Parts: sequence; structure tokens; C-alpha cells
Amino acid sequence: MILVTGANGQLGTVLTIALKERYGNDKVLASDVINKGNNTGLFEIIDATDFNALQHIVKKYKVSQIYHLAAILSAKGEQNPILSWEINTKTLLNVLEVSRLNKVEKVFYPSSIAVFGQNAPKENTPNNSILDPETVYGISKVDGENWAQYYYKKYNLDVRSLRYPGVVGYQSLPGGGTTDYAVDIYHKAVIGNAFSCFLKADTKLPMIFIDDAVRATIELMGAPEHQIKIRTSYNISGVSFTPKEVAEEIQKQLPDFRIIYKPDFRQDIADNWPESVDDTKAQEHWNWKPKYNLSTITDIMLEKLKEQYKRAI
Ligand code: SER
Repeated sequence: MILVTGANGQLGTVLTIALKERYGNDKVLASDVINKGNNTGLFEIIDATDFNALQHIVKKYKVSQIYHLAAILSAKGEQNPILSWEINTKTLLNVLEVSRLNKVEKVFYPSSIAVFGQNAPKENTPNNSILDPETVYGISKVDGENWAQYYYKKYNLDVRSLRYPGVVGYQSLPGGGTTDYAVDIYHKAVIGNAFSCFLKADTKLPMIFIDDAVRATIELMGAPEHQIKIRTSYNISGVSFTPKEVAEEIQKQLPDFRIIYKPDFRQDIADNWPESVDDTKAQEHWNWKPKYNLSTITDIMLEKLKEQYKRAI
């Protein structure tokens, strides 16, 4: 059985479906802290900060793989740093330790571009750059990457990890991240509203279309073990763009769309992150290659969201 924690989240929603398509409906157990009732297959409420609750489910379903997606993201994390630290680090340690004790074969741990800080190169940030994050989310991800590597080296637990850029998708909403604007902007455009952007017009950040993000995860987890040579986390890139560039791309199809800029505390977070990351290692080790650029992302986002909003009327 494959267990997904944080299955109600932006990535979890879509990854759970992709895993079911690949491995079968009855082989994937979705979990989260609440049941939204929108999950068609197996679902368990799990608070992964509770070691015993997690272990109970792992034993009950004979879990052999865990995709541990539950976490508090960058912007929300800054509103309650101690709680965010506790949730992000405790849940990972529980997942690693339960996996070790119960012979779980593989664990996926999502890291983030948030691991980088001011002293990493801004452009084409290499995989092994200095990691000096300034958000509690970024600090917890650096910590998590090192724990992942520790469990691999010390206990031979096959933990694999990606540093996701901002994820852009139509199937689910992000929650509490600094890159969330890149999803919200499409929703506002489709419903005909102006968009108030919390980042400045020229804030360039690494992003990835959700289909690429899900495919990267499945390809990383499916690669032969000897190909995984980085046990902290792999940079992966999709595309980099600014709010202004997204707005202009949208305006090609919706010329009346308007954007205004009202930067808030999230601007400081973004200013410390890379503009683009170098994913040569992922390309070389397990053949990573993104498929989507800003223009194809925009075409799909506008088309799919128009359908969604039409259905909702
Ligand atoms: N999308 C995340 C965030 O903005 C970055 O990993 O917090």
C-alpha cells in the first residue's frame, strides 16, 4: 500500500490521483487531518504529528511507500513559526522513524526552493549551493533534507526528495505559499476580476506546472536506486517568470484583464529565493526534463478553469 499524507493539499490531490492511475485504486491510501469527502478511494484521517496514529495506519494497511506531503508552507509558516516548525519537523521525523521500524521500502519527501537564501546564486542556483533560508518553512526543509539523508545513510531507508518550485495547477488550490499568486491570477482572470498581486511586477521565481511536478515525483520514485545519487534533495526546474509576464500572457487571450501590485510581507520571502534553479543533476541522474513553459501553462490554465467555472454555474 502507498500512503499519501497531506492528500488534500495542492500537490497531494493530484498526486494521489496519478498514483492510483499507475498502481491501482486499492493500492493508494490518501490521508489528511480532515476528510473533505472529495476522495473517492481509501482515506484515513491521520495527524502525522501523532507517532502512534501514524504507526497504527502503517501497520494496518501494510504500507510499503509513503509520500509525505503534509506541511505548512512559507507564507503561512511566518504567521506562526514555532507551530510550523513543530508540524513540519515532527511529522517528517515520525514518518522516517515509523518507516524504519516497519520496514517501509520508500519514502518521498518534498523539499522546496525555499531552502535557498541570500547567499546562494540567484540565477541557475546549483544543487549544492549554500543553504541559508530565512523562513521557518525553508529552515524546516533544510533540516528535513538532512534527516532524509541521515536515514538513508544510517538505516538504508530509501528516502528520495525534490526541491519543488512554485506549483501551478488548475485541479486544486495552493494554501499559504509565496508562489500562490501564480494560481490565483488565473482564477481571477477567468472570472473577469482584476488581480491584486502581493508581489512586485518584476519578481521572478522558479515555477512548475503541476503535471510536470507530479511526473517528476513519480519518475524520481520509480528510478532504479543506484541512479539516486543525491540523498538530500534534487533541484528541479520547470519555468521561471514574473507576475508581469503571466499577466501579459493572460492578456493575449483576455485583453481586458488587469493586474495591480500591492506587495506585502511575501515580497521579502520571494526576494531571498532564486529566480531560477539549475537542475542538471536531476537531468543527469534520472533524466528529468520539464515539458511546460509559460505559454502552454497559460493555455491549459485558462481552458481548464473556464470549464470548471462554467460547470459551477
Ligand atoms: N510554493 C512554496 C511556497 O510558496 C514553495 O515551496 O511556500
